[in-house]
Amino acid sequence: MKGRLFLVTGASAGIGAETAKGLAARGADVWIVGRNPERTERVRALVEQAGAKEARAFRADFSSLADVRRLAAEVRATGRPLHGLVNNAGLWHQERHESAEGFEDTFAVNHLAPFLLTHLLLPSLRDGARDRSSEGSRDGSTGEARIVHVSSRLHEQAGNVGTLAGRLVHLAGVLNLPRPPLGQPGFDFDDLAMRREYHGLAAYARSKLAQLLFSNELSRRLEGTGVTSNAVHPGSVATEVTRESPLLAFGQKLVTGILKTPEEGAATTLFVASDPSVRGKSGRYFADSAEKEPAKSATSVEDARRLWALSERMVELRPEERGV
Ligand SMILES: NC(=O)c1ccc[n+]([C@@H]2O[C@H](COP(=O)([O-])OP(=O)(O)OC[C@H]3O[C@@H](n4cnc5c(N)ncnc54)[C@H](OP(=O)(O)O)[C@@H]3O)[C@@H](O)[C@H]2O)c1
Repeated sequence: MKGRLFLVTGASAGIGAETAKGLAARGADVWIVGRNPERTERVRALVEQAGAKEARAFRADFSSLADVRRLAAEVRATGRPLHGLVNNAGLWHQERHESAEGFEDTFAVNHLAPFLLTHLLLPSLRDGARDRSSEGSRDGSTGEARIVHVSSRLHEQAGNVGTLAGRLVHLAGVLNLPRPPLGQPGFDFDDLAMRREYHGLAAYARSKLAQLLFSNELSRRLEGTGVTSNAVHPGSVATEVTRESPLLAFGQKLVTGILKTPEEGAATTLFVASDPSVRGKSGRYFADSAEKEPAKSATSVEDARRLWALSERMVELRPEERGV
């Protein structure tokens, strides 16, 4: 992947850090984004050690859309084409938080921030897809730019959390059994702010379904441009994502042996970002480095378009920023 440039968000820890290192080990240049300068710099040095000729760290807090705009402006100002964007930053909140702009924070960080960042970086990604300078690289990845959204299998439980159907769907997933055809409500547009009732897992599951709907609609809109959009489930991975819940963190420790390591958790993202067999594929969902069927709720074109229009209003996208 020599000469290819990737931007990886949420790279200061966990799956994102391993994704950045993995891309570097494959020969790519890697720019990483984190909200904490020390943590991000530590990973930047590791990315360099892993083989990136160019490893650069950017700082941005995705709880602030203003910060996302500043980050995008910094990246755009370099004038460099991007050959990949990994929307990996994500969180789960035990208690309800609000973002700088007053949105429920899980939805803001996991969906609105990457929605805005992707829009603002689309010109660089289109340049990446047109860039022929790494022509002849053996992975055959020239002529395209890949966007990878790190979603989660938990998207299946959006609107289902706490119900019997939700629990059975979850159990089937944990046991690697076929997903039972149980209640898969469409995206719930009601009370996105979760002011009436907050439930951390419900907020997380909805944000992860939002990412999938976004990825699918983006792929439709980008058809024929050489820029692809796919989503992944990294698996159940031992990371700090459970840090806000002592109970979940304890549960994670108990089952650490059967969870994936962050390195294993990065494998599917790396596969989708770099494997020649994924060339030209878009609007797909992957887990365990293989294409999988997402929940039916993720395939609704109507919900995807409605969410897109709503997200455009929430992030206050300007007409000149509507690249697709
Ligand atoms: N672990 C799993 O089992 C699992 C399963 C399915 C999906 N995922 C998804 O995988 C992705 C990576 O998660 P992980 O498991 O590697 O968790 P993690 O170790 O907590 O890493 C999350 C990354 O996102 C960053 N981040 C969180 N909030 C942010 C904010 N407001 N602004 C900017 N960056 C922020 C974190 O930065 P800091 O270092 O500053 O905290 C960190 O770099 C997430 O999208 C998660 O939803 C994880």
